[in-house]
Amino acid sequence: MEFDGLLFIVLVVQVLIRVAGALDCKNDTSFTIKSAEDVSAIGRCTFFNGSVAIGEDAPKDIEFKGIRSIRTLEAISIGKLRSISSRTLESVDNIILTGLPNLASLNLSTLSILDSIRLENLPSIENCSLGLGPRTEAAVFNTSFQRIEWLKWPVTTTLNITENSNLGTVSLPWETINSNVTMKGNPTLDEINIVTVENVFGSFTLEGSDEVKEIVFKSLETIDGEVNISGAFNNISMPVLKDLKGVLKVRSSEDISNFCNGLVEDRLKGQFDCKANVQKEEPSVPTPGPSEEPNNVPPPSPDEPLGQQDQSEGSDMALGAKIGIILASLVLAIFVFVGIFFFVRSRIRGKVMEIVPTVPGTPMVVPKPEKTVVITRLEGRTVRVVKINLNGQEIKEGELGEADKADSQANVGSKEMGREPSLRSVSSIGSDVKMLETRSPTCPVSPV
Ligand SMILES: *[C@@H]1O[C@H](CO)[C@@H](O)[C@H](O)[C@H]1NC(C)=O
Ligand SMILES: *[C@@H]1O[C@H](CO)[C@@H](O)[C@H](O)[C@H]1NC(C)=O
Ligand SMILES: *[C@@H]1O[C@H](CO)[C@@H](O)[C@H](O)[C@H]1NC(C)=O
Ligand SMILES: *[C@@H]1O[C@H](CO)[C@@H](O)[C@H](O)[C@H]1NC(C)=O
Ligand SMILES: *[C@@H]1O[C@H](CO)[C@@H](O)[C@H](O)[C@H]1NC(C)=O
Ligand SMILES: *[C@@H]1O[C@H](CO)[C@@H](O)[C@H](O)[C@H]1NC(C)=O
Ligand SMILES: *[C@@H]1O[C@H](CO)[C@@H](O)[C@H](O)[C@H]1NC(C)=O
Ligand SMILES: *[C@@H]1O[C@H](CO)[C@@H](O)[C@H](O)[C@H]1NC(C)=O
Ligand SMILES: *[C@@H]1O[C@H](CO)[C@@H](O)[C@H](O)[C@H]1NC(C)=O
Repeated sequence: MEFDGLLFIVLVVQVLIRVAGALDCKNDTSFTIKSAEDVSAIGRCTFFNGSVAIGEDAPKDIEFKGIRSIRTLEAISIGKLRSISSRTLESVDNIILTGLPNLASLNLSTLSILDSIRLENLPSIENCSLGLGPRTEAAVFNTSFQRIEWLKWPVTTTLNITENSNLGTVSLPWETINSNVTMKGNPTLDEINIVTVENVFGSFTLEGSDEVKEIVFKSLETIDGEVNISGAFNNISMPVLKDLKGVLKVRSSEDISNFCNGLVEDRLKGQFDCKANVQKEEPSVPTPGPSEEPNNVPPPSPDEPLGQQDQSEGSDMALGAKIGIILASLVLAIFVFVGIFFFVRSRIRGKVMEIVPTVPGTPMVVPKPEKTVVITRLEGRTVRVVKINLNGQEIKEGELGEADKADSQANVGSKEMGREPSLRSVSSIGSDVKMLETRSPTCPVSPV
């Protein structure tokens, strides 16, 4: 009797398992988690050769216990899902998590085999822990990650990190980039750790992360594929780059002319195209700068051949072209002169202290402060009046003691300091020009 009772209980339990889980570990190819019991059911399989989907009615916090291997783990548009974790899962082929407004944590710290991961539209995600990162593919799109440091294995086909609005740091602790790595439109990204990368056989593209100020390819020796970087960084270095067989394209709105000039001096084979001080809306064909031609002249009359862009054949220039340039320079000079006149006049009338170019696009003219000392006799006393005129605004006027005078000097000094960034940018436009002269802009240089 007791034996029968025991058998009965075992049978009931088995039936319950079947009803609750309805899962055949060996034969099923897919399973959808709809309840806490389903989570337990999948935990009774050690290996599940199929895909596990997290469904609408699954618990908010899911911990996989006991199971070690599944093919695909998927959760798509599940409102309440908050966390996924496991301390037993070792192998998952694909992870797809999309449109999960409350998912905050993915912790699969025991995972050592993972092929691909796709994380999309996860506005609450904070933490992701993977024993080892994905081997072939990773996509991180529109998430709230602040850091991506779980790409431990060099992804072999595609890494796409796009439009993550909180992202601060990305680490690629790899020696070789074999894949196509794309990072676009991560507006707050300010740190990219690629110091260990020695070879780029695939591609590395960085764009739309203007907070990144420093890009240090400390170990990069070989570019066989393509490196394409644009941004607002002022410090980029590839100190050991010696073999460029692919394409290197770098542009920054900041002054990276030292780096660009360094590439020319290194006489690298392969294509490189490096531009400093690139303006945001600048067309891809660079315009020659003010030393050869005005950067932005008033609309040329039809017989002025100023539209031409290629300055590499300067010595063969037709006489007509030379006359055209001289005429244009004259016109520009008049423009600048008239511009300065109106500018200064408006400054004398006006009140604003900022410095703006008089005619947009013309070389910026920075006025020197004017200091006038007038000594007059007033009611029998000698009065010394110092007038300092900076940008048409009078800074100081009146009778000065020694202390006042010092104050006024300091005043002028600080205004000058304030202008330094714009002065520097003027001179760095010059260095950009110099750089462009050394190469023809349309065909990439390959120095002999
Ligand atoms: C799995 O399916 C095969 C055929 O589809 C069947 O022969 C086998 O008995 C099933 N195994 C189990 C444990 O249900
Ligand atoms: C797992 O499933 C795939 C097809 O879904 C099949 O080709 C493969 O043989 C299965 N592997 C095992 C170990 O059952
Ligand atoms: C993320 O990790 C941090 C640090 O380990 C922890 O303080 C925080 O609670 C975690 N957040 C979630 C949602 O697990
Ligand atoms: C992930 O889980 C492991 C093991 O449970 C734990 O030690 C670790 O702190 C967790 N990490 C995060 C970020 O929650
Ligand atoms: C990004 O995610 C947010 C919140 O999940 C969503 O509202 C938005 O439509 C997503 N953006 C795109 C481009 O998919
Ligand atoms: C990278 O992209 C290029 C162009 O789309 C493609 O030809 C190449 O196969 C890709 N490389 C890898 C490793 O997927
Ligand atoms: C990266 O992912 C985004 C969003 O899915 C997609 O629009 C874009 O085309 C992808 N870029 C590459 C290079 O795969
Ligand atoms: C480099 O990136 C820029 C900006 O994303 C793009 O316009 C250009 O086509 C890329 N160049 C190559 C050769 O892929
Ligand atoms: C550029 O970065 C390197 C490496 O971090 C640093 O040593 C150097 O001082 C930086 N240079 C400038 C001009 O910021």
